[in-house]
Amino acid sequence: MTDPVRRRILVTSALPYANGSIHFGHLVEYIQTDIWVRFQKLRSHEVHYVCADDTHGTAIMLRAEKEGIAPQALIERVWREHKRDFDGFLVDFDHYGSTDDDATRTIAYHIYETLRDAAKLITTRSVEQFYDPVKQLFLPDRFIKGECPKCGAKDQYGDSCEVCGATYAPTDLKNPYSTVSGAAPVRKASEHYFFALSDPRCRAFLQQWTQHGDRLQPEARNKIREWFDQGLNDWDISRDAPYFGFEIPGAPGKYFYVWLDAPVGYLGSFRNLAQARGLDFAAFADAGKAQAEGTEMVHFIGKDILYFHALFWPAMLQFAGYRTPSKVYAHGFLTVNGEKMSKSRGTFITAESYLKLGLNPEWLRYYYAAKLGAGMEDIDLNLDDFTSRVNSDLVGKYVNIASRAAGFIAKRFGGRLAATPESDTLRALREAAPAIAMLFEGREYSKALREVMLLADRANQFVDLEKPWELAKQPGAEARLHAVCTEAIALFRLLTVYLKPVLPAVAARVEAFLGVPPLAWADAATDLPEGHRIQAYQHLMARIDPKQVEALVEANRESLKPAPESHSPQRHAQHQENAVNQSTNPPAAAPAAEAAPTTPTISIDDFMKVDLRVARVADAQHVEGAEKLVKLTLDLGGEQRQVFAGIKAHYDPEALKGRLVVMVANLAPRKMRFGESQGMVLAASAEGSGVFLLDADSGAQPGMRVK
Ligand code: 2FM
Ligand code: ZN
Repeated sequence: MTDPVRRRILVTSALPYANGSIHFGHLVEYIQTDIWVRFQKLRSHEVHYVCADDTHGTAIMLRAEKEGIAPQALIERVWREHKRDFDGFLVDFDHYGSTDDDATRTIAYHIYETLRDAAKLITTRSVEQFYDPVKQLFLPDRFIKGECPKCGAKDQYGDSCEVCGATYAPTDLKNPYSTVSGAAPVRKASEHYFFALSDPRCRAFLQQWTQHGDRLQPEARNKIREWFDQGLNDWDISRDAPYFGFEIPGAPGKYFYVWLDAPVGYLGSFRNLAQARGLDFAAFADAGKAQAEGTEMVHFIGKDILYFHALFWPAMLQFAGYRTPSKVYAHGFLTVNGEKMSKSRGTFITAESYLKLGLNPEWLRYYYAAKLGAGMEDIDLNLDDFTSRVNSDLVGKYVNIASRAAGFIAKRFGGRLAATPESDTLRALREAAPAIAMLFEGREYSKALREVMLLADRANQFVDLEKPWELAKQPGAEARLHAVCTEAIALFRLLTVYLKPVLPAVAARVEAFLGVPPLAWADAATDLPEGHRIQAYQHLMARIDPKQVEALVEANRESLKPAPESHSPQRHAQHQENAVNQSTNPPAAAPAAEAAPTTPTISIDDFMKVDLRVARVADAQHVEGAEKLVKLTLDLGGEQRQVFAGIKAHYDPEALKGRLVVMVANLAPRKMRFGESQGMVLAASAEGSGVFLLDADSGAQPGMRVK
């Protein structure tokens, strides 16, 4: 039942960025990995599952700046939110770290310095990039927008047009502007550091590493062959200050590009775990030692980041003397109801919303598992199918078996089991163990669960045939009733072993009900002994009420926010323009807003730094060419200010004229595409709500301070 050799496996899932919430797209991967890890642990292998927040980069730096906090404060907050969501979905990391820690820094430096000094694979050359002259910042492509060179649509990203679908380079955009400051970007050169992927040694190594052996899925191997055919370019691994990341040793003002240290975070996280648990880090990380000891390193990733994991990362490791990955398993994207996840349809579902509404995380774990295979195809979460599948498989088939038998054991036999009779059904269920194990091992979860549900059907047929409820009424059928119910419990116990990687919390409740220690895979080979006492049956899983799914969609429906500022539906960095500048549509009947957690306490002195004033709207105008903005002229009692507010979808400018608002009067002026914004008006908003300007009671005069 158990593999003869005890494997030693370091397993990772991709590190989520530290500036966005965990959503259903992310969860595909964490649930997929967690199931595999739990399965391996049930097989008694030594498995260490690590992950971390991916904390560096321009997006995180700017997001923190916008929130008016240090990047470290943002990272800490998001780390707690991520950890809460993973715990909620029973994703059981052995260690969840942060790439911003010393372990990751030390290993990144060691890898880099070895590549530079021993392998001589670091080169430098000048690179010209878009630069924001106002913000004094080199701009990643996604912070540049402009007019589509083909159809002229405004506000398109630098790589493709969402209106006509054209693809192009950021330099092709007409009237480009920085989404950070609104300024027109300029071209500016600076020295960059490169990892020489085009070096013949790298090419030769990667050819061999990717095209031979079974480290990669066949479709990944083919994809990589295409990349080889296009030619491997050196990889730009540096970014100029200001940048939130690790400064490159010996290169002041230059920082590692976030993707250099992100995968190093796998090893950094594991090093912290190794330290805490007294494990041998080198046995999993050092090339020679890992080979000698036969340890494995397995990465689960999304197909969008294959390039990083199948080319850059193994090459970095190889030439720095580290072990290379044993496997890289890429999965596809998630669609919901057959379409890309969408905020306006309410299908961009956050982990938090699901948990907050009280939906059972194991429903989703089961559904994803029932959809997942070993390949890179996208998987679809159909919300109707989700409800019916979970209700019919888990509640209708699996849980049902225990509830049909347990009552008789308790009431008629003092909770004690009979000797487990050997039957064809029981034998069939037991003998399925190796085949199901092979499917879990090969990440063919949908096939594994199909097998398990066929076995659950057989178990139910057995109960239907034997009709314990009738035996219970027949005089003299006591022994038969006892045997039938004992066998039903035995069948149920086997199904629980097979489902345990997917449904760990249910399995724990079953273990309590059966009065047994935690079940392992090997337990499928044995039965509970005669006379074993089980506990009273406790309810194991409720049905999904379709209303719960409707509420989930409603809670995630954002008719009010613009589309996410990224093209990857799976892992986008979220960044917002400013406090009120987020809306596109009029508020629907707004649900009661969930209060966001408050930010850390500040002193009265901190608060007094914000100069809040009552102002009267002297004038309000639409802004030509701006989707969201209204230009306000505010009378501060003797002084006038021009403020651009993102409230066009919520307020008719005409109706604003003359009313009182509250403004931040000492906010640094901000240069926007349409002119300078000299302050900010205050408005209330929440996830999925409208935007509501603050008012002052009558009697308040423009210019009065608010405190
Ligand atoms: O794509 C992403 O979301 C990255 N944060 C994944 C990093 S995985 C690893 F390399 F760190
Ligand atoms: Zn276009």
